Amino acid sequence: MFDHIIKRDHATNPITITPIAESGFESWLADQSGPTKAWIAANGYEAKRGTQLILPGTDGALGSVLIGYVDDAKALWDFAGLPASLPEGTYGFVGDIADDAVLYEKVALGLYLGGYRFDRYRKDDGKKATRAKFALQDIDAVRRAENVAKGIGLARDLVNIPANDMGPAELEDAARKLGTEFGAKVSSIIGDDLLKQNFPAIYTVGHGSDREPRLIDMVWGKDDAPKITLVGKGVCFDTGGYDLKPSSNMLLMKKDMGGSAQVLGLARMIMAANLPVRLRVLIPAVENMVSGRAYRPSDILQTRKGITVEVGNTDAEGRLVLSDALTEAASEDPEMILDFATLTGAARVALGLGLPALFSNDDDLANGLMENGLALNDPMWRLPLWDEYRPMLESKAADMNNISGSPYGGAIIAALFLDRFAEGAKSWAHIDLMAWNPTDRPGRPTGGEAQGIRAAFKLIEDRFGK
Ligand code: BES
Ligand code: ZN
Ligand code: ZN
Repeated sequence: MFDHIIKRDHATNPITITPIAESGFESWLADQSGPTKAWIAANGYEAKRGTQLILPGTDGALGSVLIGYVDDAKALWDFAGLPASLPEGTYGFVGDIADDAVLYEKVALGLYLGGYRFDRYRKDDGKKATRAKFALQDIDAVRRAENVAKGIGLARDLVNIPANDMGPAELEDAARKLGTEFGAKVSSIIGDDLLKQNFPAIYTVGHGSDREPRLIDMVWGKDDAPKITLVGKGVCFDTGGYDLKPSSNMLLMKKDMGGSAQVLGLARMIMAANLPVRLRVLIPAVENMVSGRAYRPSDILQTRKGITVEVGNTDAEGRLVLSDALTEAASEDPEMILDFATLTGAARVALGLGLPALFSNDDDLANGLMENGLALNDPMWRLPLWDEYRPMLESKAADMNNISGSPYGGAIIAALFLDRFAEGAKSWAHIDLMAWNPTDRPGRPTGGEAQGIRAAFKLIEDRFGK
């Protein structure tokens, strides 16, 4: 996936890239030769962040490349445009950038992600492979960037693959493939067995589809290590069920397994880094479809926890499948439970597409995720588990309803629903995210996106690492 990045010692005479801090441009320029100054002036180049300029060599060939950057949380994106835009060749950095491991890691991650493409359904059109190669120092910072990039690439691919090729069974295959790579145990409970083993909400939501629902369960690491459990919403397609979505809203719903893509991407980072934790990943994988077997509005469901739920809306399916998975997650009493889910449109109304909503019963966990998110430009923003809204989930017929009667505060209501099932969890965070880039930006093409997992990985590394 990322073969445009090579080790420095495998490259002879790479074309040099000179990173220029935006604020240091004037003093850098003062030291340059007359012809270089003239070329830079002719191009109106000022080393603004993310902008590049090719300098000609004395022989008229491509000489070297300038790239402007600002050394802040967003620095990685300043470098992400290079892979797609530079001409064929092998490039390497000059300057003291490699001495600063923190910056070098951002540079490397930007270059990795800048080469990400989802092209498995396209005939080779000549643009398929990134032509430029980048020779980076073989240092820890680059290996870390590679690990993170591979986790992100996995998450993006899983979201981008359309639902016809990414149903519950294929999502299980993806988890098994990952498990095999890192020596994790993957099991699954499929179809009628969900009822036998008391996962009734997953069974019921997934029953409307011809593709059988399942609970995917991956376990990795030493039994006696601190337990971390990741839960991801795996709705492989969300039509809304009988409360059918309008076509404009349905169009993007292959991404409704985006939560499961996040947790598999994050699991990949944790396992590849060999963190000393006992990791468990739970993915309720279903398709929310319309059929003669599908669940109906006003049905009353059983849940694993024994709480009965009246279905106010079949489109609020994510919280139903997550409820059984969270009950199972909490039953082991892990040190930390993180769930990722494309749970509500309301979270997007509140915070937009680029900022996942974070909910937590643990201030330290919430603060840590917020801080890491800001420091790494992988942001999320905390919203409250507002106690006073709990009565809005009351039902006259069952223990709870899956929606509130009010159109307001939908992301909080959904989180409060989950909270009932995560009850007793020591430290739980719920991340309600979009998992999708609506526009093309360097390193962030339109399509599936990883959100929050770089921040979560850093937190887990810092807390539980060696
Ligand atoms: N998968 C959707 C939420 C969603 C929609 C996330 C668009 C991101 C973008 C979820 O299953 C859903 O449909 N939620 C409903 C809940 C409502 C019926 C209470 C929603 O948000 O409208
Ligand atoms: Zn839905
Ligand atoms: Zn959904």
